[in-house]
Amino acid sequence: MTAKKKKIYLGTNTKMYKTIAQTVDFVTDLCRRTQDISRESMELFVIPSFTALEAARKSAPESLVKIGAQNMGWVAEGPYTGEISPLMLQEVGVKIVEIGHSERRHVLMETDEMENKKVLCALDHGFIPLLCIGETAAQKDRGESQAVLCTQLQKGLTSVTAQQAQTLWIAYEPVWAIGATGIPATKEYASSMHKVIRGILTDLFGAAVAQGIPLLYGGSVHNENAVGLSRAKHIDGLFIGRSAWNAENFEKIIRSVLPQDTGT
Ligand code: PGA
Repeated sequence: MTAKKKKIYLGTNTKMYKTIAQTVDFVTDLCRRTQDISRESMELFVIPSFTALEAARKSAPESLVKIGAQNMGWVAEGPYTGEISPLMLQEVGVKIVEIGHSERRHVLMETDEMENKKVLCALDHGFIPLLCIGETAAQKDRGESQAVLCTQLQKGLTSVTAQQAQTLWIAYEPVWAIGATGIPATKEYASSMHKVIRGILTDLFGAAVAQGIPLLYGGSVHNENAVGLSRAKHIDGLFIGRSAWNAENFEKIIRSVLPQDTGT
């Protein structure tokens, strides 16, 4: 018996690719193209660059798309040159804070301890923390995938209470699946890792809370694999990069994966 939730979570992180003007065009077009789709059946979100956050927020109704930030400092203010405070993100209407994307971990050398501070700070300031986790190819080859996910969740969610965990979202994004050189996970593999993640979350927060935490898959999602991945057991949504950065193509993916009794 599948216990899939009705609502599907679909979003994109535009990384360091879109200017303010490009972000506004993208978000405006995406809203126009998807406004007929019930948001009871779909949670749509876009995570642009910091400079584009305010314009993105103003160009799209909150009822159609949630706006997220790609990163956040872990204190409200202080001597942290180059960081962005949660208060600054609140000021521009951000709802989601993406934490621990693979590029933050592996290019910018963030640690699980840093991600944990950001998760706690995001929760304290009323954001949805979207914690990204995933193993590298070498870790997978050594058979360490489950252990890596366990460590990333245990450390990344240290001191998070079961009550707070009700606002968490998690993205499983294996490092080897992301980007132009990535190989997408099969739906079977992604589903099995999501099951592992759900099990770890159950140990941390109890079954009732863990069941309610949206688990999104990301890493080379495209028009051909989106339906299979989105319908796989234990997967609640898709976190998409390149294939979503054109609103027309993102709309195609969105309509293809919608629960069948919704949309047009
Ligand atoms: P991709 O990016 O879909 O372009 O592989 C995914 C991500 O980095 O979240």
